[in-house]
Amino acid sequence: MKSLNQWRADEYDNQLAFVSGYGKNLISWLQPQKGEYILDLGCGTGDLTYEISLAEAEVVGMDASPDMIRRAKEKFPDIEFVEGDGHQFETNRPYDAVFSNAALHWMRNPRLVVDSIWKSLKPGGRFVAEFGGKGNVQIIVNALEEVVERNTGIRASERNPWYFPSIGEYSYILEQSGFVVRQAYHYDRPTRLADGEQGIVGWLAHFGGDYFAGISHDEIQKICHETSQIVLPHLWKEDAMYADYKRLRMEAEKPES
Ligand code: BEZ
Repeated sequence: MKSLNQWRADEYDNQLAFVSGYGKNLISWLQPQKGEYILDLGCGTGDLTYEISLAEAEVVGMDASPDMIRRAKEKFPDIEFVEGDGHQFETNRPYDAVFSNAALHWMRNPRLVVDSIWKSLKPGGRFVAEFGGKGNVQIIVNALEEVVERNTGIRASERNPWYFPSIGEYSYILEQSGFVVRQAYHYDRPTRLADGEQGIVGWLAHFGGDYFAGISHDEIQKICHETSQIVLPHLWKEDAMYADYKRLRMEAEKPES
């Protein structure tokens, strides 16, 4: 869960615009149709919800962060946005499709999430998602956990807030719920970070909150600096740092019967 992270809508729209930028390509897997009723699960500030609505589909954006939902409503007043948790949402009107970009890796109980999605879909409905796959940001996680542990004695791996499954692991969960997996793709997507050699510091400030709970501001600065020193030679390519993102993209169908 993302409770300890600060989901600031401003940062999301500025420094982290790549999140929805990359997600546009995922809409080609969804192929939204006019009149379809679609859920965008983990919609952030709504950019992809809006893109889906351009197909004249009726889209609802859902996110666990009130700040994201507030901003999404400001940006796209004609679209419905609701606060909700992917582990336990319900709908009175079943969806034709559930779409999700860069959100499911924050949901630590994938069985509950997949069950909620299953129940919310019509028979014949589809689920299209992309999120962090096995090995995602492994260089960053290894360095950060080593540095947190060395500086504070905290067992940092127990604070890891993310779920990055393989194709096999996630397909199994989908199939156990009854889905038929139509397409699965695990790929490297090195992701350029802003701010040159300081790039990883901004990334940690935005996403690393769970690791920093109870640690003083000065210590956090030191941890970010040391982590940056470790990852720099691995992630620096020509003119910038590139985070070692690996994505898992899945399409599954809820069979008609
Ligand atoms: C990701 O999109 O892969 C990601 C984002 C934040 C933290 C970890 C992974």
